[in-house]
Amino acid sequence: MSVTFPAAAPAPASADLSVWPASARAASDGDVTVAGVSLAAAADRFGTPLYLLDEGEVRDRCRAYRAAFPDADVVYAAKAFLCRAVVRWAEDEGLGLDVCSAGELGLATSAGFPPGRIVLHGNAKSPEDLYAAVRLGVGRIVLDSAPEIARLAALVPEGDRRQVMVRVVPGIAAGGHAKIRTGTGDQKFGLSVTDGSAQHAIARILARPRLELVGLHCHIGSQITSVKPYVAAVRRMVGLMTQVRDHHGLELPQLNIGGGHGIAYRPGEAALDPAALAVRVRAELEDGCAHAKLPVPRLTVEPGRALVGPAGVAVYRVLTVKETSGRTFVAVDGGMSDNPRPALYGVRYAPLLIGRRPTAAPAVVTVVGRHCEAGDVLAEDVALPGDVRPGDLLAVPAAGAYHLSMASGYNLVGRPPVVAVRDGSARLLVRRESLDDMSRRDVGL
Ligand code: LLP
Repeated sequence: MSVTFPAAAPAPASADLSVWPASARAASDGDVTVAGVSLAAAADRFGTPLYLLDEGEVRDRCRAYRAAFPDADVVYAAKAFLCRAVVRWAEDEGLGLDVCSAGELGLATSAGFPPGRIVLHGNAKSPEDLYAAVRLGVGRIVLDSAPEIARLAALVPEGDRRQVMVRVVPGIAAGGHAKIRTGTGDQKFGLSVTDGSAQHAIARILARPRLELVGLHCHIGSQITSVKPYVAAVRRMVGLMTQVRDHHGLELPQLNIGGGHGIAYRPGEAALDPAALAVRVRAELEDGCAHAKLPVPRLTVEPGRALVGPAGVAVYRVLTVKETSGRTFVAVDGGMSDNPRPALYGVRYAPLLIGRRPTAAPAVVTVVGRHCEAGDVLAEDVALPGDVRPGDLLAVPAAGAYHLSMASGYNLVGRPPVVAVRDGSARLLVRRESLDDMSRRDVGL
């Protein structure tokens, strides 16, 4: 008796893993390993949805930044993703930390991060944020509005001084989506050079003996894949530093040009190269300062996404597959509560079937979440094997930044756990949110 097997479709062994962590390998049985850990085994052990973070990839990225910017401070923007292990990795690798709330600050210091290497941001810092920053001795506080100047000065004890910077809007448009463009005046962050509010704030800070103005800051946007807007921003910032020297006789010793460095979410997409950025920014800074006869300030960069984004992989289990109006919807056990980015910014991801060899040719499907709205789409019109079915595992690369840090309690499904993978072993960093966790806050009747 002869048995015919269906013709094998391309197996994940040929899958394009170019936007996965460098340690990712496709196995012949359809599984994928990251840092030597089988994703299928991790899904069985920790359940789904599951977020994996490749510790080696994060550390390598931190090292690449430090190598690219040897004379600068590299500060990890914690808003991309924060937990105590990541705080530890950033500290080990010699990075600073950018926080934007008393919560992020408290988590960082509770994990032992040196407060002097922390930068506090925020367009509207609460009294608690400012108080915690002063009490814990945060290294630099970036002032973002006029009222904040007096408010902070009032919290600094007499005889003490705190280092501050001014967040400047240089008037440069850049960024992957309108919602994450912050370099021009039509949004809530910073103080504009164009309308003079940055210059005004600088004068007010200089009149406060408890505040020490150490430099300027700008963050022009996020998911930027070209070095050009950074070079233009540096030019404007050097222009403002020159004005400060001319008007106040002060040569500012620091310049922080923020983060925003773009990554590839799908194979073939562009990413910003930190080494190229470093060379171009340094050249512009040195030329600009030489021309203005200013000393070259110490540079700070604040990457978030570029350090953790490519190190993360989300793993979901398929719950149901539905054909309707000529479309195939593949619904998984997570969605917009763990990754709101497609809904917010229209971002496209590249999910991959893992854990078995497909037996059908690729078909175009839309991967959706389990939440109660039609906009809960994780990946629209992507190619997945035509035999994708309930129980299958789908993995989404480039999931390490702005997923879990923006996760919500929508529909009370509970936020997924985070597992670090390294040298063939997996360890839980953040456990799954349980119904008990959620109901504990619900204290009234
Ligand atoms: N510095 C400051 C002052 C920032 O506001 C940010 C990000 C960063 C640094 C780091 O930017 P990154 O290197 O990670 O692009 N939720 C959006 C991104 C919002 C970014 C907010 N600020 C997303 O999912 O794309």
